[in-house]
Amino acid sequence: MPEIAGVLSSRRILPSTNSFTGEEDSKKQRHITFWDKLVVNGGGGIKLGFIGKCIAVILFVLLLVFIFARSRGMIDCGSYPRLSRLYGSDTGDEGVGFEFGSLGVPWCRSKQGKTVEWTNEDLLKGLEEFVPIYETRPIKNNMFGMGFDHSFGLWFMTRWLKPVLMIESGAFKGHSTWVLRQAMPMSDIISLSPRHPEKYLTKGPAYVDANCTYLSGKDFVDFGSVNWKSLLKKREISDLSKVLVFFDDHQNELKRLKQALKAGFQNLIFEDNYDTGTGDHYSFRQICDQSYIKGGGHICFKDGDEARIRSERKKFWEKAVDIEELCGKRDAWWGVRGQMRDNFNHSNRVISYAEHFQNSRFIETILDVYWELPPVAGPSLTHQTRYDPARVSTPIVEDGRFNLFQKLGLSKLEASTFNGYTQMIYLQVSAPNTKR
Ligand SMILES: C[S@@+](CC[C@H](N)C(=O)[O-])C[C@H]1O[C@@H](n2cnc3c(N)ncnc32)[C@H](O)[C@@H]1O
Repeated sequence: MPEIAGVLSSRRILPSTNSFTGEEDSKKQRHITFWDKLVVNGGGGIKLGFIGKCIAVILFVLLLVFIFARSRGMIDCGSYPRLSRLYGSDTGDEGVGFEFGSLGVPWCRSKQGKTVEWTNEDLLKGLEEFVPIYETRPIKNNMFGMGFDHSFGLWFMTRWLKPVLMIESGAFKGHSTWVLRQAMPMSDIISLSPRHPEKYLTKGPAYVDANCTYLSGKDFVDFGSVNWKSLLKKREISDLSKVLVFFDDHQNELKRLKQALKAGFQNLIFEDNYDTGTGDHYSFRQICDQSYIKGGGHICFKDGDEARIRSERKKFWEKAVDIEELCGKRDAWWGVRGQMRDNFNHSNRVISYAEHFQNSRFIETILDVYWELPPVAGPSLTHQTRYDPARVSTPIVEDGRFNLFQKLGLSKLEASTFNGYTQMIYLQVSAPNTKR
C-alpha cells in the first residue's frame, strides 16, 4: 500500500517546536503557510498552490486580453510614430518594411502568368533619362490630364515596345501625344478625341503634332466605330504586335478591351485604372478585384477590420475610400458601389456580382500580361497626399531613398505633378485559347 503510506508519512511531518528556536520556528511556520498556498514543495519539485494557481489564471487572462487588443489595433505599441507607419520608414534604410499593401493589392491574372521584360533597374535608368525630357514639356500645368508618374510610364513603355504606330484615344490639350512623340520620334500617331487639341491653343499652351493623324473635331470617330482593318491596310500595317493603343478617354475599359480585341490589337495601355469604389468608368483594377485574388474582394461589415483600416487611412489620403463609400445598397462593393460606370459616369448601370465575376473570368481568358506601373516614388518623397499607398505596388524609388530621388532630379519637380497616379496598366492580350 505505498500510496497510503505516503499520505500518512507526509501528515506525520510537523513543524519543529524546539524551545530555543520557538520564535524562529513560528515565523518560519507562518511563512511556510503562505508559501504553501502559493507553491507546494512536492517530492518531484515545485507545484502551484491555490494562490499560485489564481495568479497564473489572472496572468493568462491578461495575456489573452493583450493579444486580442493588439490584433484589433486597440493597443498601439508606439515603437515608431504613426505617420512613419503610413509613409513607410523614415530611417533612410534600404529595403525597409512598408505598410504598402496592408489593404491588399488585387491584380488581374494572366493566362500563363507571363510578366513584362523590364525590371526596376530599367525603370530607374528610364527615370534618369526622362526627367530632363519632362522638364521641356510644352504644357507645364496639365490639370485634368496626366501628371509625372503616368507621363513617365507611357514614355517608358512606348520606348521599350517600339511600336510603328501609336493610337491614342483621349488627347485633351495634347500632352500625351507629346509624350508618345518623345518616345518614338519617327513613328506614326493616330489621335482620337472629340475636340482637336489646337482648339486649346487660343487659351494657353497645347501640343499639336505635325506627323499625327487627328480624328478630332468634325473628323472625330469613336475608337469602337473606326474601320481599323481598312485604316491599317492603307498604312500597310499587317503585324498588329507593332501597334500600341493608349486609352485615356474615360470609357468602360471592358468595352474598350472588347473593341481592341475585335480589331486584333495586342498591346494596350490604360491611363486611369481606377481602384474599386472610385472613378468614372469600369476599370481593370475593379474587374479583377475578386475574393479569390490575394488582396481582392471586400467585406462591408461596418465594425470589421477592413472598415477600421479604411477609416484610419481616409484621415491621411484624400482618395482613400472608406467603407461607406465603398459599399452600396445590399453591400455591393464591386465596380463603384455595384455600378459599372462608363463615359465619364454619364452611364452607370447596376451590375450583379455574378456579372462582375464573369467579367473577371473573361479577362483571364484573354490576358497574356497585366502590369501596373508602380508609383514613381514613395509618398514621403513626393509629398503626394491623394492616393493611398496601401492600395498600390511598391514605388520605383522607395521611401527613405532621398539621395536617389534627388539624384534622379525628381526633387526639382512640383509636388502637384505626383498627385495624379491611378495605377496605369499595360496589357498584352490575345483571343481566348491563344497562347503567346
Ligand atoms: C483626361 S483627358 C485626356 C488627357 C490627355 N491624355 C493628357 O494626357 O493630357 C480625356 C479626354 O478624352 C476625351 N474624350 C471624351 N470622349 C471620348 C471618346 N469617346 N473617345 C476619345 N476621347 C474622348 C475628352 O474630350 C478629353 O479630351
